[in-house]
Amino acid sequence: MGRLDQKVAIITGAGGGQGKAEALLFAQEGAKVIVTDVQEVKVKEVVDEINANGGDAIGFFHDVSLEDNWIQVVKDGVEKYGKIDILVNNAGIATETKLIDSTIEEWNKVLAINLTGTFLGMKHVIPLMIENGGGSIINISSIAGLTGGSGASSYTASKGAVRLLTKATAIDYAKQNIRVNSVHPGYIETPMTEEMFKDEQMTSWFRANTPLPRLGKPLDIAYGVLYLASDESNFVTGIELPIEGGYSAQ
Ligand SMILES: NC(=O)c1ccc[n+]([C@@H]2O[C@H](COP(=O)([O-])OP(=O)(O)OC[C@H]3O[C@@H](n4cnc5c(N)ncnc54)[C@H](O)[C@@H]3O)[C@@H](O)[C@H]2O)c1
Repeated sequence: MGRLDQKVAIITGAGGGQGKAEALLFAQEGAKVIVTDVQEVKVKEVVDEINANGGDAIGFFHDVSLEDNWIQVVKDGVEKYGKIDILVNNAGIATETKLIDSTIEEWNKVLAINLTGTFLGMKHVIPLMIENGGGSIINISSIAGLTGGSGASSYTASKGAVRLLTKATAIDYAKQNIRVNSVHPGYIETPMTEEMFKDEQMTSWFRANTPLPRLGKPLDIAYGVLYLASDESNFVTGIELPIEGGYSAQ
């Protein structure tokens, strides 16, 4: 028996990195998975991989910053699977810019994808979850949403806002049996960090500053997201779950 049998999940930004690991793991655990991303080719690859391994997935092009895209994805997903039990707001982009070097365009783009995308996802999925008697939402924040770091103003602002938007939404919809939690990855090896981790000096610094001295893998995050998505966590809402080798315990 799978830990997500009978569940239907939307995972955004699931064409690669952590989202892909979550999509594959969820399917392995019995969920029907709606895989979305702006990278259509990658969406197709993930959907094909799930279906070829006996799972059940469908994929859509989906820019999370656009409300009409959300309306369409939710409509098409429900048409296919009848309901949505789990939403993972995973899509995100990173920047490495200090405040006075940030342009208004970059600021708006980061906030639109990382924060507004999360807001829109919850806005359009929660009404269906209410109708359906409940659900679980997992918003992917970051260690940058727990403490301030240097050189990523808009990213840090967006991830900090996701952390508290999660708690506010958790409180507002708990009575409808909707759980909302955030996950805070540390330094994880994905396409997002590929360039950064080529710098040996930088990766040495990450290892030296992480109590469990290694970089994280997408599956490290996916297992935490799986727990929050499953009924095993049905008394857990409004929490922030760091998965970062103890980085924020220091
Ligand atoms: N990798 C890390 O070290 C790290 C650390 C902390 C938090 N995170 C967060 O984890 C999440 C997943 O990141 P990842 O590390 O797997 O990176 P990634 O770049 O591999 O994955 C992000 C995915 O989001 C998609 N995406 C970008 N813009 C989008 C949009 N407008 N609409 C829909 N999809 C869009 C990308 O195409 C990509 O597939 C992100 O929210 C990221 O901020 C990553």
